[in-house]
Amino acid sequence: MSSEEIRQSFINFFKEQGHAVIASSPLIPADSSVLLTTAGVQQFKPYYTGELNPVKDFGGRRVVSVQKCFRATDIDEIGDETHLTFFEMLGNFCFGDYWKEEAIRFGYEFITKRLGISPERISVTVFSGNAAAPKDEESYSIWHKIIGLPKEKIKFALWDNFWGPTGNKGPCGPTTEIYVDNVEVWNIVFNEYFCEGSREDLMAGLAKLEKLKQNGIDTGMGLERLAVMLQGVKNVFETDLFHPLISKIKEL
Ligand code: SER
Repeated sequence: MSSEEIRQSFINFFKEQGHAVIASSPLIPADSSVLLTTAGVQQFKPYYTGELNPVKDFGGRRVVSVQKCFRATDIDEIGDETHLTFFEMLGNFCFGDYWKEEAIRFGYEFITKRLGISPERISVTVFSGNAAAPKDEESYSIWHKIIGLPKEKIKFALWDNFWGPTGNKGPCGPTTEIYVDNVEVWNIVFNEYFCEGSREDLMAGLAKLEKLKQNGIDTGMGLERLAVMLQGVKNVFETDLFHPLISKIKEL
């Protein structure tokens, strides 16, 4: 499957589930808490807190995007098979609409039915809980009882399964991550809290979580990693996103 087919099939799948298609925001974000856009969720932050109204701006509570992102948090890993500083993130988002079961079902259905990835290749992680927020038993039970994933394919983790906030405050929450062949491809965030402090403050026990007035979903899947899996190549540089550029450089 080409990268363009992956983008289109993602957009089409979520359009069919009632999501409005929103263009990528610029890499220079309107949100001053970060220097560059690091995730699809960045442009939607005010819709989780209720500052902006999604029905007025998007005609509904569900949106989908393919976002240009820049991240330097894992810069030490750049050059391996799957990490990049600049990448595209496929994401579906909702503000006070569907919740864990639907979000997990959408993710699983897209990966297995639309992309045709065999369920045997899939494993997931779920938030293990701590003093700030409880263990996510609900997601565990959805994966195991409703989706039918065997127990040994579901692992618990702490901060790897808690997203945000980005910058010095904002919406955040527990996550469930989907892995294909033991590589993380999709992060599904259950935005149910607001943190009046940075992620570092939260991890140090210095910031408290308040419940948001409405639950929200924020997901992000790496296009380049999916392309590796679907194009039968070993690393991002061999996908159709990089290969033509590398060939041209060689030629020159
Ligand atoms: N915001 C989350 C992430 O970037 C999910 O989109 O991983």
